[in-house]
Amino acid sequence: MGRLAGKSALITGAARGIGRGFAEAYVREGATVAIADIDLGAAEAAAREIGEAAYAVPLDVTKQESIDAAIAAVVQRAGKLDILINNAALFDAAETVDITRESYDRLYALNVAGTLFTMQAAARQMIEQGHGGKIINMASQAGRRGESLVLVYCSTKAAVISMTQSAGLNLIKHCINVNAIAPGVVDGAHWVHVDAMFAKLEGKPPGQKRAEVEAGVPAGRFATPDDITGMAVFLASPDSDYIVSQTYNVDGGQWMS
Ligand SMILES: NC(=O)c1ccc[n+]([C@@H]2O[C@H](COP(=O)([O-])OP(=O)(O)OC[C@H]3O[C@@H](n4cnc5c(N)ncnc54)[C@H](O)[C@@H]3O)[C@@H](O)[C@H]2O)c1
Repeated sequence: MGRLAGKSALITGAARGIGRGFAEAYVREGATVAIADIDLGAAEAAAREIGEAAYAVPLDVTKQESIDAAIAAVVQRAGKLDILINNAALFDAAETVDITRESYDRLYALNVAGTLFTMQAAARQMIEQGHGGKIINMASQAGRRGESLVLVYCSTKAAVISMTQSAGLNLIKHCINVNAIAPGVVDGAHWVHVDAMFAKLEGKPPGQKRAEVEAGVPAGRFATPDDITGMAVFLASPDSDYIVSQTYNVDGGQWMS
């Protein structure tokens, strides 16, 4: 029997990338998984490919009514919500003097407010159900320290680490464990976008930033989403019942804390 047999999970931003990897792993472990994404077409395609334990739910985590509707859709479909992964996020990069309010507002609305209010809605549902739950927030090594061109994104991920600490302390009385994962660098569409941005900002040929970053990873390579899923399964399983407010680095040795 899988470690998540009979559990109902909602994963934000799960139509692609790391979130999709989480959805596949959770289904393998026996969970029913809502692939909740702003790109409903991609979420539906992912759900079809993963199999009948996965289903698509439209979700824009920057809109409260959309968050509430997604939680209601999960409860209607699966009868309950046991696990939330707050995975959806956006990246941006700029010289400090060039950061725009538009970029700041966009990243904070998604990475910070989206994480907070999806966590809140899930926690309310879990408290009403009365048998605890698991909330996993996606931080990043970028939340552990600043980066010269990445002020806004780094600060949103530091906020995720901090919100995980406070929410974890507050919700453990309801047997809801709140923890976070801080990946290092993970291959996928996100890094294609990051590499293209740095190519422009630092005047580098496409692919050079990625190669430079990879050379600095102690494990010698970028992660794949599968490198991150083991931690997400562990943090959703009863093995993590005594773990509260922690952020785990899964980054090939890039950061120690
Ligand atoms: N890829 C990396 O190297 C890396 C490293 C550290 C941390 N992370 C974090 O891991 C998580 C997943 O990263 P990824 O690389 O798989 O991202 P990604 O960009 O590949 O996927 C993000 C998903 O979120 C969805 N999304 C965007 N806006 C949304 C919204 N408003 N509401 C709901 N869904 C929305 C997108 O449609 C997409 O499916 C993010 O929190 C990211 O910050 C990624």
